[in-house]
Amino acid sequence: MADGSWYDADIDHVIISEEQIREKTAELAKQVSADHADVDGGILLVCVLKGAVMFMADFARALGNHGPSIEMEFMAVSSYGQGTTSSGVVRILKDLDRDITGRHVVIVEDIVDSGLTLSWLMKYLQSRQPASVEVVALFRKPDAVKVQVPVKYVGFDIPNEFVVGYGLDFAERYRELPYVGVLKPEVYARS
Ligand code: XMP
Ligand code: MG
Repeated sequence: MADGSWYDADIDHVIISEEQIREKTAELAKQVSADHADVDGGILLVCVLKGAVMFMADFARALGNHGPSIEMEFMAVSSYGQGTTSSGVVRILKDLDRDITGRHVVIVEDIVDSGLTLSWLMKYLQSRQPASVEVVALFRKPDAVKVQVPVKYVGFDIPNEFVVGYGLDFAERYRELPYVGVLKPEVYARS
């Protein structure tokens, strides 16, 4: 467990450490840049807010080390509300700001859980005629999958537990944690 910050009191155990995230992000960036070395127009990253915000910031900088030209777009979709189980209903809270026709798109996702959100998002983006769409997801819960989605780049497969930190929240809290962990049961009980 990391170093005595206030939030450590609410964390039962760490699943993926800050250092593991850093190393994996560098690896993923290397792969994505190698696979997009010759594409026209560079890479258009599409970050899925809010959960992927930390990963987007770190991944984009890691990718920048390899030299491809990068543009960033942000979308916000909602499938969860305040709870911890997927509703399967996806709402667009914030759409793309520009046309992605003919562009090489990489969706930057925090976590693939049921896959419902991503499956919907891929269809939505593909309907806009990009040159390609790939997905990089930092985390995936293989035991939770309800729809198979072709996620080309996956950071870590993690157990089927609700996790917080590094962008992931419980009721909008804990996003700022530098690692990913599981909350103590009493945290749910008191909310
Ligand atoms: P699905 O189930 O559609 O997941 O693949 C969609 C979104 O739900 C969020 N999600 C989580 N957020 N801890 C969180 O804080 C979790 O364990 C978790 N599992 C899923 C996440 O935003 C994902 O993109
Ligand atoms: Mg997400």
